[in-house]
Amino acid sequence: MEKLIADIKKHAQQIRADEWALFLVIGTGGSLNGSKAVHNALGGGKRRETGTYLPIQFLGDELTLDGYMKHLDLNFAKESKWNIYINYISKSGDTLEPKLIFDYLYEKMQVKYTKDELKQQIIVTTDVDSPLHKRAEENGWKTYFIPSNVGGRYSVFTPAGLLPIAVAGHDVGAFFEGGRNSAKIYRENPLKSMEEHLARTLHAHTIGETLQKCDINLFTFFKKDLESLGAWLCQLFNESCGKDGKGIFSDTAIYPRELHSLGQMVQDGRRNLVETFISFQDMYDCKQFGRVNRAIYDATFKAHTDGDVPVIEVKVEKLDEFHLGGLMQLMMDSCVRYCQLLGVNPFDQPGVEKYKEEIRKIL
Ligand code: PA5
Repeated sequence: MEKLIADIKKHAQQIRADEWALFLVIGTGGSLNGSKAVHNALGGGKRRETGTYLPIQFLGDELTLDGYMKHLDLNFAKESKWNIYINYISKSGDTLEPKLIFDYLYEKMQVKYTKDELKQQIIVTTDVDSPLHKRAEENGWKTYFIPSNVGGRYSVFTPAGLLPIAVAGHDVGAFFEGGRNSAKIYRENPLKSMEEHLARTLHAHTIGETLQKCDINLFTFFKKDLESLGAWLCQLFNESCGKDGKGIFSDTAIYPRELHSLGQMVQDGRRNLVETFISFQDMYDCKQFGRVNRAIYDATFKAHTDGDVPVIEVKVEKLDEFHLGGLMQLMMDSCVRYCQLLGVNPFDQPGVEKYKEEIRKIL
């Protein structure tokens, strides 16, 4: 793994050294959400050396030519100074939405770059046995592999997550180390660790005697930059545990924003909800707002627990690569454990396959 991380760092550094680099990550679900979560949480793209930004965009999880896609068109003009890199990530290599977006942009890339130049510009991350790997080989595109036994939503510590995170300028070594450290704690102290606690608590709230009607879990953050982390968590939990008529439905809330909207429902609505507060303690270091943010956290905790809403607190020391890696690993361990407690397979997604089947029939 150390060698792979070193290769990824080197590759990312080359891209980052290109002052007009524009990096497009194309994927969906687990192939996109992990790197996007880290990028948005840590504020990606800044080149520490020069203070300039390397723009990174995440595409492929919707099919539209509006908004950013329209704007992107300009950058494909031959005279545009932007040098476009595409990291196309798909484990299966045939997921409809990212494939269509990649093919659409690839046509434009072929106008802007020669076949030889494209070998530098297109990077593929996929399974060794996928049709995408074959296509990449035929065209000489650089390829990274997602290990066959790692599913999309668990792939943030593979090149699927690590390359875009490294291109964003983050320390992937520290991120990976944070994950490894967290996994070690889990293995060594499974009964005392937070993830065990979380899994047990979720389990208790879901099917325990006192809280049988708790069927929603709200991952709650106190910073808008963590919204994508919430999306990653929601995918992880919903896609892993929502099977056989079982599982808790997870969604995300950003406080204090949502205290002025869905906070009403949390406080006074049906008692079918558990909240998982995820907070980073360095948020309170801010001279201007730290004290108020702490008060908002404490006041919300008090109001909601007084109102009989069960709250699980996950307090993370710092918002940096190491601790974010630790949190994401902890959540994956917790999710797997929770699925085991429910008696469902954490790693498949038969419901998603059903949608794929239906759309193939229609198209
Ligand atoms: O977690 C999962 O396995 C899914 O969300 C997949 O990541 C998603 O469907 C995309 O699949 P693929 O990477 O094969 O394009």
